[in-house]
Amino acid sequence: MRLAYFPATRALVAQLLGACFVVLLNKIGVLYGLPLLALASLQGVFAALAAALMRADRWWLPLHLVFLPGVVAAAGLGLPAWVWAAAFALLASVYWTSFRTQVPLFLSNRKTVATLSAALPDGALTVLDVGSGTGSFVRAFARLRPDSQVHGIEAAPAPAAIGAWLARHQSNAHLSRGDFFAADWSGYDVVYAFLSPVPMAEVWAKACAQMRPGAVLISNSFAVPDVAPDGTLDVADRRKTRLYCYTIGAVKEGDTPRPRLIWPTRRTAKKPHPITITAR
Ligand SMILES: C[S@@+](CC[C@H](N)C(=O)[O-])C[C@H]1O[C@@H](n2cnc3c(N)ncnc32)[C@H](O)[C@@H]1O
Repeated sequence: MRLAYFPATRALVAQLLGACFVVLLNKIGVLYGLPLLALASLQGVFAALAAALMRADRWWLPLHLVFLPGVVAAAGLGLPAWVWAAAFALLASVYWTSFRTQVPLFLSNRKTVATLSAALPDGALTVLDVGSGTGSFVRAFARLRPDSQVHGIEAAPAPAAIGAWLARHQSNAHLSRGDFFAADWSGYDVVYAFLSPVPMAEVWAKACAQMRPGAVLISNSFAVPDVAPDGTLDVADRRKTRLYCYTIGAVKEGDTPRPRLIWPTRRTAKKPHPITITAR
């Protein structure tokens, strides 16, 4: 995606436009004598208007309104500069490329991991969590399925380091730092994703290109656009998590994906493992 299309780029442009308007009005003397906080609030109003004109999502507008007034108010606290630098470094190490990927950090809960673990067939599986955060999924799944090898790849340095440290005593949990789009997914029975709606089409394209027929892609909460899942799993948690399950079909490029459904859509007492993974 080109840089100009990122919501964060548009937000920056809106902020700059807001600042330009205020500077311009100040130059011609319209705002003479107004205190700094009032000028900052006016900049917020102009920035929000500019963002609305650029069709930013609605939730950006209050952020634009309060951003510069917030900065001015915080500057009044008189904290040393290193506090702001440290806060920036901390946030950057956690959110890293979120401004570009549009995938923030939030974690899978235990009920979700347990539900998925129970739905997958018994036996040793190779599992990859794409965007593994602090390794919540990888560590919990590896504990529930000690015969399986569970890998996670995370781009942001702080969550990746925390995850690797927390998993240091689990021999079947492997957490590393990197870009999951650059990794090879061909050796995995299951790829698990808990990302955002933005990368799902690309994730699906990569899964179809690299995963073997019969392997499964599981997406927590975010469906692949324009592709019907082979089944869904509803987790009995507070946020009513839904897992979208896609079986990779034996398809060639250009074919319609999912030529055979090996995911039963309903769970029955006779079939304790609704997700079927065909042998290699
Ligand atoms: C919502 S968190 C999910 C964490 C973990 N999978 C879980 O379920 O607990 C998504 C993570 O994906 C990471 N991410 C996004 N794009 C990535 C990429 N291309 N390569 C590696 N990590 C990525 C983000 O940094 C974020 O920490």
